[in-house]
Amino acid sequence: MLFPDYRPRRTRLHPALRRMVRETRLHPDNLILPLFAIGGKGVKNPIQSMPGHYQLSLDYLGETVRQAFELGIPAIILFGIPETKDPLAKAAYAPDGIVQQAVKAVKDNVPEILVITDVCLCAYTDHGHCGVVDGQMIANDASLELLARTAVSHAAAGADMVAPSDMMDGRVGAIRQALDEAGHENLPIMSYAAKYCSSYYGPFRQAADSAPRFGDRRTYQMDPANAREAVREVMLDVEEGADVVMVKPALAYLDIIYRIKEQCDLPLAAYNVSGEFAMIKAAARMGWIDETGVMMETLTAIKRAGANMILTYFAMEAARLLNQ
Ligand code: PBG
Ligand code: ZN
Repeated sequence: MLFPDYRPRRTRLHPALRRMVRETRLHPDNLILPLFAIGGKGVKNPIQSMPGHYQLSLDYLGETVRQAFELGIPAIILFGIPETKDPLAKAAYAPDGIVQQAVKAVKDNVPEILVITDVCLCAYTDHGHCGVVDGQMIANDASLELLARTAVSHAAAGADMVAPSDMMDGRVGAIRQALDEAGHENLPIMSYAAKYCSSYYGPFRQAADSAPRFGDRRTYQMDPANAREAVREVMLDVEEGADVVMVKPALAYLDIIYRIKEQCDLPLAAYNVSGEFAMIKAAARMGWIDETGVMMETLTAIKRAGANMILTYFAMEAARLLNQ
C-alpha cells in the first residue's frame, strides 16, 4: 500500500499511539555505572574531561553507589587508581588493593547492587600497558597469569562479576580456569570481547591514569576498520567461557553491536565510553546541542542496535529521567 492509501504519519499523531508503537524502551535496568576508586578519605577529585565524575575515596564511593541504587541502577563497574605502579602490576592483585577494598566498601554499604570489577593491568603497571612488557613487546602468555590472579582477588573480595578489558589472547579461558580452581565457579565473566583501539578512551585514561607511557595499544586492541574480526573475537570468548560479551566503544560501533546481536545469543553489553560522554557534555556546555535529548537518543540507539546492558557515565542522569 502506498500513499495516499498508506500514511505512516497516522501512527505518529497521537502521543499514546506513539508510545504504543515504540520498539525500543530504555530502562534503568539496562544501565551500568562506571566508578573510579582512589585511596584516602574525603577525596573527590573532579575528572576535568568527564563533568560530574570523580576519583572517589571509599567513603564517597559508598554514598554514590547508594544514590545509584536508589535510582534503580542495578550495577556498577569499578576501576581503581592505585598508590603504586610497577612492572608486574602488583597492586592489581594485592588482597588490600584499591579495587579489592572498594568492593568490600560497596558491598558493606549497598549489598543489593551488583558489583562488577574491571580486570586489567594498565592502571597498575608503571609503563601503562594492559599486560606485562618484554622489551617493546606486550607479552601475552605471561600476562594471563597476572590477569587471572587479579580476577581471583576481586572474587575473593566479593565482586559479583569480573570484566577483563585487556584484550590478551586466551584471557577469558585463563580467568575462568583460575576462578573455578579457587571455588568461584558461579562467578560470571563479562568479557570486553570486541574492544577496539580507540581514540575515544582519552578522558578515561586521564581519569584512571592509565595511558601507555610508550607506544600504543594497537598490538592487542582491535583495528577500528575490522568488523568480521569482532565476530571471531566474540566467538572465541564464548568458547572460553564468557557469560556476557561486550562491544566497546558503542556509538561509532553500532554496526558491530548489531552484528554480534545477530550472531551470538549471549547477553550483550556495550560501553558508551568516556570520549562519547565528553563530546556530548562539551557540545552541550557550548550551547550547541540539547544534552538531555542527545543523551537519551544515544542510549536508545545503543539499545536499538542490540545491547541490553549499557555501561555509561550518563547512568545516573538517564535513570533520573526515566524515573520521572
Ligand atoms: C582498561 C580500560 C579502558 C577503558 C575501560 N577499561 C581504557 C583503555 O583500554 O585504554 C575505557 C573506558 C572509557 O573510555 O570510558 N583497559
Ligand atoms: Zn588496560
